[in-house]
Amino acid sequence: MNITFIGIGYVGLVSSVMLSYLGHNVSCLDTDRNKIANLKKGILPIYEPGLDKYLSYCLARGRLKFLENYNEHIQTSTAIFITVGTPTLPSQRADLQYVFDAVDNIVKLDSSPTIIIKSTVPPGTTDFIAHYIAKKKLLSKVASNPEFLREGTAVEDFLRPDRIVIGTSDKETSDLLKEIYAPLLAEGIHLISTDPTTSELIKYASNAFLATKIAFINEMANLCEEIEANIDHLSLGMGLDKRIGNSFLKAGPGFGGSCFPKDILALSQLAKDHHSDSLVLDAVINANQKRPLDMVKRIKSILDGSLSGKTIAVLGLAFKAGTDDLRSSPAIEIIKLLQDEGANIKAYDPAGMKNIEQVLTIDRLECTSSPEKSCYEVDAIIIATEWEEFKELEWDKIYNNSKSHIIIDLRNILNSSVIKAKGFKYYSIGHKYEA
Ligand code: UGA
Repeated sequence: MNITFIGIGYVGLVSSVMLSYLGHNVSCLDTDRNKIANLKKGILPIYEPGLDKYLSYCLARGRLKFLENYNEHIQTSTAIFITVGTPTLPSQRADLQYVFDAVDNIVKLDSSPTIIIKSTVPPGTTDFIAHYIAKKKLLSKVASNPEFLREGTAVEDFLRPDRIVIGTSDKETSDLLKEIYAPLLAEGIHLISTDPTTSELIKYASNAFLATKIAFINEMANLCEEIEANIDHLSLGMGLDKRIGNSFLKAGPGFGGSCFPKDILALSQLAKDHHSDSLVLDAVINANQKRPLDMVKRIKSILDGSLSGKTIAVLGLAFKAGTDDLRSSPAIEIIKLLQDEGANIKAYDPAGMKNIEQVLTIDRLECTSSPEKSCYEVDAIIIATEWEEFKELEWDKIYNNSKSHIIIDLRNILNSSVIKAKGFKYYSIGHKYEA
């Protein structure tokens, strides 16, 4: 099938490459000419493990094209996926301007492709677009097909999703979506076929629920620190109950990234707009916004109540391991707060260093080329992102070059008895400090 993607951000890029891999002829359109030029050469704009191989595979077979303009490839498309960004407006609602720009461009085509909204949009948007298009006398049908890919594991998530969700208003459109995903459905992947508004809400509610689990376990971690309980055993003990499930129960510095913080704000605002309660959502939002402050308070108390003039290594900048994405990263929020308190930062991230100047002031910030350089003669080492390579560092050498031998592990990735045996004072999340 001929398919077009409008918007080659994270979701658009992964989905277009992978649908092309499944056998479709896919054209990708984006306003960023530099990105398109690089993708034509097989150069990815993001760090996503494994995606490069699929990109080269599809480019080599001529099934994947990157375009700057609406041309004949788009005119012959049976389906057009809209995968543009929906950033947060000052009102906390999702900004749908790019979605509507894309729809307006499709309306100008001579053809009537099925429009599939994959961008995360507030429930009701797909139906609204369907009415808008009908008024323009275009014959296109509109469907919702949210995405559940996680950064860092997106290829695997695409090929083996827990479910595929489609929201359509008629059988013809739902059959078209089933045809697009036929290779995955043939492998027994669950298909949830519903109306567009429910489909859109499944996406928001899933992200908000996962965020709620994280906020909950972070609150329990605080309590564990106070009453000398163990967060790892608590997460395991709760998670083995199948009704709870063991994923997303890892305590840390708070949830970040381009999705959870944005989507939960938009869902809460949607509930308010419809005079429906958002008590749970608002509690999660508030708890997570407070989390970096709690982390800095703890760091400050470990460093004898003052951060002014102290030098602190921050290992990890990305919002989670396996990505170079610094958007709404707790690590970045924590660094800003530490800088505000007068601390000097030596930062390192295996993938996210190139984006650092977009999100941080370089005042009192040194970016280093290795984690060891970050840790050289500092007052404390903070582990802010759970990169595997931080577990394997030569901690003996780091110990010899460290001033105060304090490690504050906000991701609980180090083995506490091993690291303490090396002489470090080791603080982690959800455990009472023991010398
Ligand atoms: C999330 C969802 O997991 C995807 O299903 C969804 O498609 C995507 O948002 C989206 O809407 O596009 P992602 O943002 O890549 O994916 O990241 P997650 O792996 O979900 O992690 C989100 C945040 O929660 C990270 O900051 C992570 O460190 C934190 N987290 C996650 C925890 O603190 N504890 C956990 O147990 C799990």
